[in-house]
Parts: sequence; C-alpha cells; structure tokens
Amino acid sequence: MRKVAHLRAAALFLISTLAGSAHAGGDPVRGADLFRQNCAACHSQERQQNLVGPSLFSVVGRTAASISDFSYSAALKGSGIVWTADQLKAYLKAPRKYVPGVKMMFPGLADENDRENVVAFLKTLGEATSQSVQSAEAGSLKR
Ligand code: HEC
Repeated sequence: MRKVAHLRAAALFLISTLAGSAHAGGDPVRGADLFRQNCAACHSQERQQNLVGPSLFSVVGRTAASISDFSYSAALKGSGIVWTADQLKAYLKAPRKYVPGVKMMFPGLADENDRENVVAFLKTLGEATSQSVQSAEAGSLKR
C-alpha cells in the first residue's frame, strides 16, 4: 500500500512536470492539495472506504450512486449521471444546485481552475472499469 502511494506520488510529479502543469486537463498535484483541504474530511480515495461520503476511488467513469454499501440520497440515485470529467466539473461547481436534494453538504468550488485541478487528481485514482466499480451489478439489482 505504502509503496503504491509512493509510486502514485512519483507519477503525479512526473505528470505535472512533463505537462508543464495547469494546462488543459488541470494539475493533479494542486488537485491533491485541494482534495485534502476540501474533500478528504468526507471522502476517502481508497477503494471501498466510505466515510460521510462514498469512496472516490475510480470515480471517473463511474455511474453516480453505484457503490452498493453506501446509502445514497434518492436524488443522486435518480440522477442518471455518469461521472465523466465534465459532469464532475459541473457538479463540483455547485453540487446542490446541479443535483437538487443531494446530501453532500459542500457549497462547491467557485474557481474553475480548482475544479479542473481536483478532477485531474480524481483521474489519478483510476477510472471505472467493470473490475473497479464495486458491486455495480449488485447495486443495479437493488434498484
Ligand atoms: C461534508 C461532507 C462532504 C464534503 C466536504 C464533500 N463531499 Fe462529496 N459527497 C458527500 C456525500 C454525503 C455524498 C453522497 C451524496 C448523496 O447521496 O446525495 C457525496 C457524493 C459525492 C460524489 C458522487 C459519488 C458517487 O458515488 O456517485 C462525488 C463525485 C463527490 N461527492 C465529490 C466530492 C469532491 C471532489 C469534494 C471536494 C471538492 C467533495 N465531494 C466534498 C459528502 C461530502
């Protein structure tokens, strides 16, 4: 686990240096800081670790409200959203306006660069595949 975190940090460093940072697609290193400051109190980046909010491991590409052992609001379950980078940016601007009734008590990230950067960081947590989406099938059977 530690080793993986280490590699991830090294990869982030490389990505941001090579990409000259902060261009289209955002800066995952800045995003990691923003995540710690704004999201980590409620969200873990580890797989299958739900806190007040669901795990954000592999959230990019995931269908909204698809972690089977997290108790989502009816609003998010019924949203029909798939978390593409664009959907995430729109949601994070003003979560409770984008999905009325969502129970994420977070006002939003006002700055567009901040949103870009956080989403760039979320991408480093992996993108959803049939393997990484935890019990997506069980989740859809329940609905
Ligand atoms: C005060 C706690 C809190 C904070 C802070 C918070 N969230 Fe959330 N988040 C939640 C909760 C609770 C949910 C579930 C919402 C629901 O079911 O309506 C959620 C849901 C989400 C989802 C949907 C996940 C899914 O499985 O469909 C995403 C994406 C998300 N949050 C991203 C973020 C990001 C990125 C930040 C920081 C910029 C953040 N959240 C800050 C509590 C929080």
